[in-house]
Amino acid sequence: MRRKIIAGNWKMNKTTSETVTLINQLKPLVATEEADVVFCVPTISLTTAVEAAKGSNIQIGAENMHFEENGAYTGEIAPGMLDDIGVRYVIIGHSERREYFAESDVTVNKKVLKAFEHGITPIVCCGESLTQREQGVTIDFIRQQIKIAFLNVTPDQAKAAVIAYEPIWAIGTGKVATSAQAQEVCKAIRECIAEIYDTDTAAAIRIQYGGSVTADSAAELFAQPDIDGGLVGGASLKPDFGKIVNYK
Ligand code: PGA
Repeated sequence: MRRKIIAGNWKMNKTTSETVTLINQLKPLVATEEADVVFCVPTISLTTAVEAAKGSNIQIGAENMHFEENGAYTGEIAPGMLDDIGVRYVIIGHSERREYFAESDVTVNKKVLKAFEHGITPIVCCGESLTQREQGVTIDFIRQQIKIAFLNVTPDQAKAAVIAYEPIWAIGTGKVATSAQAQEVCKAIRECIAEIYDTDTAAAIRIQYGGSVTADSAAELFAQPDIDGGLVGGASLKPDFGKIVNYK
């Protein structure tokens, strides 16, 4: 049985002092033995967040990182810097990074490989636009994203990875995918992993759904056979996140 993983993506929200307040507020609400709980917070608050989450079941993740060890990349954050402060997850290739910061499937792949080198679990994002869905190319597009993201990733690494399927039209729009739509794509992603690796790897990898998940939609989405939790934006900044984590 795959363990559920429910992650909050705070995006560019909350100052460092607000981060401490929100973590303290959410700590009792997200306490559970049944799922992994990750808060992905802005880089500037990572050290404070790791400290604030100590002694709880909350693990802290980053929202991005560079694929080089170090060097002349003004403003960027190296994987070793995350590792050093106890960050165990990193979101890679979120559609907002692809759209606003020109991240490509190739840079996503470099970052995924680098995260594994540092023992950081990547949450690898994929997802189609509304036009792609309407043109009927959703599965083709996502298979391409996955195949490039996992280039040269070993089976053992892939088993430990997390994929977040986030249809772009559902992110921050309040238009959540139906559980059938989300399941269809998550199943196709698992089949793609089976094709690249084998059925054991496909059975082990965890696939989240993301895009306007709320306390009302979480239970039905997370009950789908190929959906192993969620990547939650807006609703992760509210006490509602506790209800999403305890969705059953
Ligand atoms: P949302 O964001 O839940 O606010 O739609 C999800 C995400 O972008 O990860």
